[in-house]
Amino acid sequence: MKVVHTIKELKTILGEHRKQGNKIAFVPTMGFLHEGHMSLIDHAKAAAPIVVMSIFVNPTQFGPGEDFERYPRNLERDCQLAADRGVAVLFVPDVAEMYPDKPKTNISVSNITSRLCGASRPGHFDGVATVVSKLFHIVQPDLACFGLKDAQQVAVIQQMVQDLNFPVEIIPCPIIREQDGLALSSRNVYLNTEERKQAVVLSQALAQIDLKFLSENTPKEVTRKVTELIESKPLANIDYVELLSFPSLEPINQFEDVTAVIVAVAVRFGNTRLIDNKIIKK
Ligand code: PAJ
Repeated sequence: MKVVHTIKELKTILGEHRKQGNKIAFVPTMGFLHEGHMSLIDHAKAAAPIVVMSIFVNPTQFGPGEDFERYPRNLERDCQLAADRGVAVLFVPDVAEMYPDKPKTNISVSNITSRLCGASRPGHFDGVATVVSKLFHIVQPDLACFGLKDAQQVAVIQQMVQDLNFPVEIIPCPIIREQDGLALSSRNVYLNTEERKQAVVLSQALAQIDLKFLSENTPKEVTRKVTELIESKPLANIDYVELLSFPSLEPINQFEDVTAVIVAVAVRFGNTRLIDNKIIKK
């Protein structure tokens, strides 16, 4: 595996692969890799012979007071994991490489960013859409893998790719979980023992939701039942519990109106904000 830190070096290496007619699959990450990220490498490998992964903790998608400074980092370990799993090129730019000057251009996807994490984290998805579009221009992948753990992010990127004609196929990949159900996240390391124990309530609250449950409960009842279960844990502090259409992320009155819904939750345990979701297709 080649580890490169500059855009110039990356372009030289990928130019060679492209000349040989090899398809390129891309997995953008912020590092501190876990099995969720690893699963994206597997999906990428299945779709193209060359897998490029990026590790870049993107400052522009963190709000003031969020965890940019203390976001967990371990490049040495990440390199080992990525190499072992079959990444061909690991792109690890620093902030000056990605943002040499203060940028004056911003990509902002409207409507689908107005709820869920878009509402709780103003500016977050502008930061995500802008950095992902920069990375797409730098890597020029044929396809890119994103985890449905961040379902709103998938919807935002798909919308951006469609609206701006990026020649990239987006592959949404399923959520990878711990044995007890907790969705894997780089931020899980922040949880203390008691918070970790109680955090399992997120996946438990979502597990009860299936087609039958949706047909027997109104959207309001669904969110109330999910909320009640999460609130039964004393350390859980709910940011949002919402049921929306997917991928348009709009409120709905009844399930009959749409082909897929998402029940999405964001909950704080101490200083740690966890998200999870379940998408149900008809
Ligand atoms: P990061 O949080 O590192 O996640 C990188 C990718 O891994 C995302 O597509 C995310 O959805 C996926 N992922 C994380 N946990 C997962 C899990 N438990 N199961 C499946 N996939 C999982 O998302 C970002 O970084 C950034 O916003 C980024 C897209 C890199 C832009 O900076």
